[in-house]
Amino acid sequence: MKEPILRVEGITVRFGGLVALKEVTFSVEEGELLGIIGPNGAGKTTLFNTITGAVSPEKGRIYFQGKDITSLPPHKRARLGIARTFQNLRLFSRLTVEDNIKLAMGLPYPAFAPLFSLPSYHKMEKQMSESAIALLKTFHLYPYRDRIASALPYGERKRLEIARALALKPKLLLLDEPTAGLSHQEAISLMEELKELRKGFSLTIILIEHNMRVVMGYCGRLITLNYGEIIAEGTPEEIANNPAVLQAYLGEESLC
Ligand SMILES: Nc1ncnc2c1ncn2[C@@H]1O[C@H](COP(=O)(O)OP(=O)(O)O)[C@@H](O)[C@H]1O
Ligand SMILES: [Mg+2]
Repeated sequence: MKEPILRVEGITVRFGGLVALKEVTFSVEEGELLGIIGPNGAGKTTLFNTITGAVSPEKGRIYFQGKDITSLPPHKRARLGIARTFQNLRLFSRLTVEDNIKLAMGLPYPAFAPLFSLPSYHKMEKQMSESAIALLKTFHLYPYRDRIASALPYGERKRLEIARALALKPKLLLLDEPTAGLSHQEAISLMEELKELRKGFSLTIILIEHNMRVVMGYCGRLITLNYGEIIAEGTPEEIANNPAVLQAYLGEESLC
């Protein structure tokens, strides 16, 4: 059988007295679009932080393409092909849309340009322009390329963040609530774009999503976290009818 692209084995994360993740084990196959759901505070973001290396687990191992990455620092994991977006937007808000992409591709921040010889800076910039433009077109951001990132409408900023995460051509993309703050219609179009993207870039995507309605039609498989533990795993239909999941969401917004 083919090696899963990601294997998380028995991960436990503790913050002081709080167990944020407890013995979390799952695998992700190459090309999957896996959804992670669960109430607020369930440990979803912490799971991403553990996969990217921002948080170190107390116990357990993480394997990426068969390689044990548990002790690798975040930048080395990024170099192997793991990229993420954050629950709250993190863009260079005073730079243009295009510069945000180029920076993610490794171009030095414009203020540091004087540290490089002008011809070599321009050469780097020119090389990156083409791929930056291609990425902007994919995300329908090309018309906005010269706009300052903070001046973009919210939905476009969200798309820019995803485009930026793709700048280094990752193999695994982790999206933390990409549809938060979007209207239902915007959320659905974003999911449609992600679907296309997955094919175009042969990407594996793990998506944290609070809203079951959004993930239902798009994720082949869902994992439900509650108080740091996986309480259910299965197709969206199985998850929607799982009593433990419904129980976990009681008091939260309804699932559908
Ligand atoms: N850096 C941290 N330090 C202390 N507690 C944290 C930290 N990050 C998350 N937590 C706690 O861990 C639990 C899980 O948080 P989180 O992973 O953000 O949940 P979710 O993304 O599912 O809403 C919460 O109780 C949260 O307060
Ligand atoms: Mg979160």
